[in-house]
Amino acid sequence: MKYEQATEILRQNGQEHLLRFWKTLGKAEQKSLLEQIESIDFREVARCRAMLPGAGKPAAAKKGVPTAPKVTVLKGALLKKAVAAGERELAAGRVGVLLVAGGQGSRLGFEGPKGAYPIGPISNEPLFYFHARKVLALSRRYGASIPFYIMTSMANYADTVAHFEEHGFYGLDKKDVIFFKQGMWPGMTEDGKIILDKPGHVFMSPDGHGGMLAALKANGCFEDMAKRGVKTLFYFQVDNPLVNVAEPAFVGLHVLEKSEYSLKLCAKRNPREGLGMVVRRGRGFDMIEYTEMTREMNYRKTADGDLYFKYGSPAIHVFDREFLEREAKKDMPLHLAHKKIATVDDAGKTVVHDTANGYKFEKFIFDILPDAKRVTLLAFDRRDEFAPVKNAEGSDSPQTCRDALRAKWRRQLAGDLHIIVPSALPLEIDPLYMYDGSDILKRGFLLQKN
Ligand code: UD1
Repeated sequence: MKYEQATEILRQNGQEHLLRFWKTLGKAEQKSLLEQIESIDFREVARCRAMLPGAGKPAAAKKGVPTAPKVTVLKGALLKKAVAAGERELAAGRVGVLLVAGGQGSRLGFEGPKGAYPIGPISNEPLFYFHARKVLALSRRYGASIPFYIMTSMANYADTVAHFEEHGFYGLDKKDVIFFKQGMWPGMTEDGKIILDKPGHVFMSPDGHGGMLAALKANGCFEDMAKRGVKTLFYFQVDNPLVNVAEPAFVGLHVLEKSEYSLKLCAKRNPREGLGMVVRRGRGFDMIEYTEMTREMNYRKTADGDLYFKYGSPAIHVFDREFLEREAKKDMPLHLAHKKIATVDDAGKTVVHDTANGYKFEKFIFDILPDAKRVTLLAFDRRDEFAPVKNAEGSDSPQTCRDALRAKWRRQLAGDLHIIVPSALPLEIDPLYMYDGSDILKRGFLLQKN
């Protein structure tokens, strides 16, 4: 983009101030500022501006009183049927895996992509290892390739790719691991002006995991999926090494139900646990993010004294590919967050603020839920599949996650193989062999140290 083009676009959008330090910038800074301006989608910027509190257009209230949805528990004949259906899909190569890994490890005091955070209780292997080895386990077990699409942010793309290269893609075929970058959006002041945090630099932040749809489209991933014959996508977050990646029963139930969007749900640990809540609104479904749940909703009880809104979402989903493609053509709802964002003063000096002074915008993938023609909700035991690493200490920390991993492996060994491992013994199972006990026994691969 040329300077003249940038001036014109900015003028049309009331953002001329982005070039106010132009003459003081060096050649390289000028070039990168023009590149940043070129990357901004001003149609989306206009949508963001319309959302600002001062714009006088508050988000319309959603129709329909939220009620608790019905949730499926898989057992008996239905479980068998679902497993068989899922295995058929996997063996036919119709399943792909989507991982959203745009987050950094900063909340954990860790530099770099969160997926590189070491979590193996003995091996110290990172989150990415657990995810990738499970994809490998499935592809070996079903003799089919399973493309693994990994979304990164602009900031952690190079580090994520380098991580996989350094680790030999954890045994996966390189051509089946597809990295793609999510978009970045500029931050804004309360009056809708895009923020410069340096004279030649626009403050930008990732567009949320909902940015995945636009990014899949822009990076040709939908075409890649179609070419490979992928019809169903298993989706999960980088912070949860317990997840059963593309579990046949879940994939199978989704397919049997002809679902467009299926979600695993687990009972909340306590009324205020930070989990998104799936609710019914009239005949459709919706997700209410935990930050938007009222106290009354969180604490509401059934006649039996159970939580009324009981099942939260650990962000483990299965999507129909065509549904995602359809949704990628639409505008997604926007969520704004009031944040402290550095700005530049008239002298071009960066000013750090100690109160929130600007807005960041994000899209959430689960906002497409109301559009799904068919939705399946599957209850699962959270001990087996959900122990995210979110905080450095306390709940949802590396410590609680490692404890949950060890407990799961112990249960697996006891249940499948009748091997009782004393809880004092450190234990770790390579995810390549953890799909069931027979795998572990066949490979004899069990890591133990005193
Ligand atoms: C998230 C969900 C919440 C769910 C909980 C389960 C949101 C808004 N909320 O909360 O409903 O119950 O997980 O653990 O997601 N990511 C990107 N790009 C981004 C932002 C996030 O790839 O721009 C990825 C992160 O790397 C991570 C995932 O999305 O894998 C979730 O992000 P995070 O900010 O950790 O969400 P939570 O607040 O923990």
